[in-house]
Amino acid sequence: MRKQIVAGNWKMNNDLKASKKLAIQVAKKVKKSNLKGTKVIIAPTFVNLERVVKATKNAKIKVAAQNMHFEESGAYTGEVSAQMLKSIGVKTVILGHSERREYFSETDEMLAKKVNSALVNKMNVIFCFGEVLEDRKSGNQEKVVESQIKNALFHLKAEAFKNIVLAYEPVWAIGTGETATPEQAQDMHAFIRQTLTNKYGEELAESVSILYGGSCKPGNAKEIFSKKDVDGGLIGGAALNADDFLAIVTAF
Ligand code: PGA
Repeated sequence: MRKQIVAGNWKMNNDLKASKKLAIQVAKKVKKSNLKGTKVIIAPTFVNLERVVKATKNAKIKVAAQNMHFEESGAYTGEVSAQMLKSIGVKTVILGHSERREYFSETDEMLAKKVNSALVNKMNVIFCFGEVLEDRKSGNQEKVVESQIKNALFHLKAEAFKNIVLAYEPVWAIGTGETATPEQAQDMHAFIRQTLTNKYGEELAESVSILYGGSCKPGNAKEIFSKKDVDGGLIGGAALNADDFLAIVTAF
């Protein structure tokens, strides 16, 4: 059975006080809503990770980093490694977010190395990918998504996918208020699952959770999550408000 997951990517928002406050609010609401099976993840910025881990120690919430470097240590000014994240209790990392690809020039090749490093360190990966508007307009969205997945993940052995969650995030829908329709999301998720089936077989493809991301809000989450191949969401803007985030978490 695939896991249902809702992850909040806080991006470069919330100082320490605001991070702790939001984490505690989310934790309380998660407890109250008595979730059946939905896994909740929050991803604060690096500097606030440790305090958020502590603040949510007894809650049913996992804390993820938004990025990491692929080397263990060394002369990489400003970077953070998997081993460092693990040392503060962070066992999940978001990799390949479109903002990392666009503003920080992350390539499929670098992402393959980051995925390797996360897995070697026994971390869980939320691997993001998705097409830009021009790809969608020219009908190339499947080709683009297929190559992003193949280039960064298809060197892996099947077992590795036990620790990988995929997040399809059409770039044209991120932070724009424009969401993929539930049908567009389902079509792409089915295509992604087929791509996994072609390489690793149906059993594996059926076991991998595929999240949707891009302007997912309380008002549209239910319909998107009701689609057969959508196993949850990666939430940006709406994850910064505890009520909105929980409305999405409980949308299943
Ligand atoms: P958004 O961001 O929900 O604000 O569109 C999603 C994401 O970037 O993960």
